[in-house]
Amino acid sequence: MTILKRRLDHVFHIGNGVGANRVGGTPEEDEACELAVSWMEEAGLEVEVDERGNVVGRLRGTTPELPEVWTGSHLDSVPAGGRFDGALGVAAGLEAVQAVGRSERTLGVVVFRDEETGCHGSRWRVRHASLPGSFVELHIEQGPRLERAGAPLGVVTSIAGIVRCSRDFEGRADHAGTTPMEVRTDALVAAAEYVLRVREVAAGIDGAVATVGQLRVEPGAANVVPERVRLLVDARAPDQQRLDRLIAELGLEDAHYVIPPVQLSPPVLREEVERRGLPVVELPSGAGHDAGVLAVAGVEASMLFVRSLNGGASHSPQEYSSDEDIELAVDVLTSALRRIARSPGS
Ligand code: HGY
Ligand code: MN
Ligand code: MN
Repeated sequence: MTILKRRLDHVFHIGNGVGANRVGGTPEEDEACELAVSWMEEAGLEVEVDERGNVVGRLRGTTPELPEVWTGSHLDSVPAGGRFDGALGVAAGLEAVQAVGRSERTLGVVVFRDEETGCHGSRWRVRHASLPGSFVELHIEQGPRLERAGAPLGVVTSIAGIVRCSRDFEGRADHAGTTPMEVRTDALVAAAEYVLRVREVAAGIDGAVATVGQLRVEPGAANVVPERVRLLVDARAPDQQRLDRLIAELGLEDAHYVIPPVQLSPPVLREEVERRGLPVVELPSGAGHDAGVLAVAGVEASMLFVRSLNGGASHSPQEYSSDEDIELAVDVLTSALRRIARSPGS
């Protein structure tokens, strides 16, 4: 088993339960970050842990005053998440930096904290601490497009804009057995009608998606008509014009931006994929990523996707990429870092 696979295995088995369970801000995410620090120290990198808990392992360049070149991702997961989401970018990023070796520009491997609930670690970093000039993130695609295209790798052109907003529905608690249907004010029925509208509006805007993945019912007893419901809407679109339309049609003007739609810088990755005679698939990302936060902050950010198999399953233990595809991805990432960081002979 390769070091990379062994490390992904080790991270995957942190925490209990089915799948990856390292939700942001939990001891399990801390444990994964401590493990990554030990890998970086073993590799002889200078390790920085900032006030938000983000980790940066550096291999100082021969011209350290040049803007740094980072790779990496996140180690937190959704509940019952997949083996590769985030962790692949960290473990493969470290392997690539070690393969590139000392370069003109300082190379960094970064672990951004608490990405899944809103890129909190990278959003803190871009506001409060130093940044690189370039960032290359390797990530599993988390969708079916590369599998359908028969392509092992994809070059990400842009990242969808994401807004999130909670909505409250008020009703009246009543006895489930004695209250006639016609006199009820059932908060959950009202919320359910809104959830159906969320699906209808998003389905009517090309490329837009909207999800209600969290919903809380009070008092939450089987024999009480729901009095109050709070739900969280996650709404996304590939560009600002469609995101604005989604916001307007769903009445989400008070939503907060996780990230606006953002363009990435694909040329080096595209050339490296092309040079290997691999199919060049350029695609937008519907998933949010730390690379998008850095791109919005002015970092030259690029992303390489490795094919998701199993029909693109992700945010689930069914998430899967093959060893062969991952090996290709690490090779392309290494070459791209070598060129961007201007290592000798690049
Ligand atoms: O939600 C997302 O798009 C990402 O998986 N954090
Ligand atoms: Mn991710
Ligand atoms: Mn994710």
